[in-house]
Amino acid sequence: MEKKQELYSGKAKSVFATDNDDFVVLSFRDDTSAFDGEKVEQLSRKGEINNKFNAFIMQYLADNGVPTHFESLINDTESVVKNMAMIPVECVVRNVATGSLVRRLGVEDGMELNPPVFEFFLKNDALHDPMVNEFHIETFGWAKAGDVSKMKDLTFKVNTLLKQLFADAGMVLVDYKLEFGLFNGEVYLGDEFSPDGCRLWDAQTRKKLDKDRFRQGLGGVIEAYEEVARRIGVPL
Ligand SMILES: Nc1ncnc2c1ncn2[C@@H]1O[C@H](COP(=O)(O)OP(=O)(O)O)[C@@H](O)[C@H]1O
Ligand SMILES: [Mg+2]
Repeated sequence: MEKKQELYSGKAKSVFATDNDDFVVLSFRDDTSAFDGEKVEQLSRKGEINNKFNAFIMQYLADNGVPTHFESLINDTESVVKNMAMIPVECVVRNVATGSLVRRLGVEDGMELNPPVFEFFLKNDALHDPMVNEFHIETFGWAKAGDVSKMKDLTFKVNTLLKQLFADAGMVLVDYKLEFGLFNGEVYLGDEFSPDGCRLWDAQTRKKLDKDRFRQGLGGVIEAYEEVARRIGVPL
């Protein structure tokens, strides 16, 4: 497959056309951003780690019945994925309260959430990704009701699978964000799953092993991402 012109450049990845309309190349850059793009830094090797991390997780999810856009790794920082019409809604599951949930509702940081909490956010940096519900999504036409329910079911299925995967490697999957898209009218998991878009804590020490290290200026960001990758067996 031949890589063609750049179609879009986001905060962390760029999307390139290919000679086949059904596929695009996702190119993972070292750019690391937080606070809706207000804080941006280059972290050496992050693109490569996230590309390989994402490939491993997407393959694991596909093997366990989750339809994903992932096709193949093509080099250290790039993968081929299905060319999807992205649904501009982020699906979040929280197993432990932290971050914006704590700020918003004043609940205790670190509180276990049983059952887990599910939230939708509109993917819109200018509006700071406001929380929305199923009515907003349907009324404003961001997705059809049937697809919204599929996104929710798949997001919970991912929780069951990944909570266990990380628990077996001594980590707590605190929360995560997923994006979905449509390919031939069907819902597939898109974008990426990496420590950029989830929170992972060491089960024993509760050390943060995700992008909160960058947000909070804790240092050792890439070392933490590599540690998570090593623990779950991602070939780096
Ligand atoms: N399979 C796909 N087909 C088309 N676009 C995709 C696919 N997967 C992810 N994208 C989009 O690629 C863009 C680039 O990623 P990213 O840098 O994370 O951008 P953003 O700053 O918008 O979050 C995102 O807008 C994401 O929705
Ligand atoms: Mg993104």
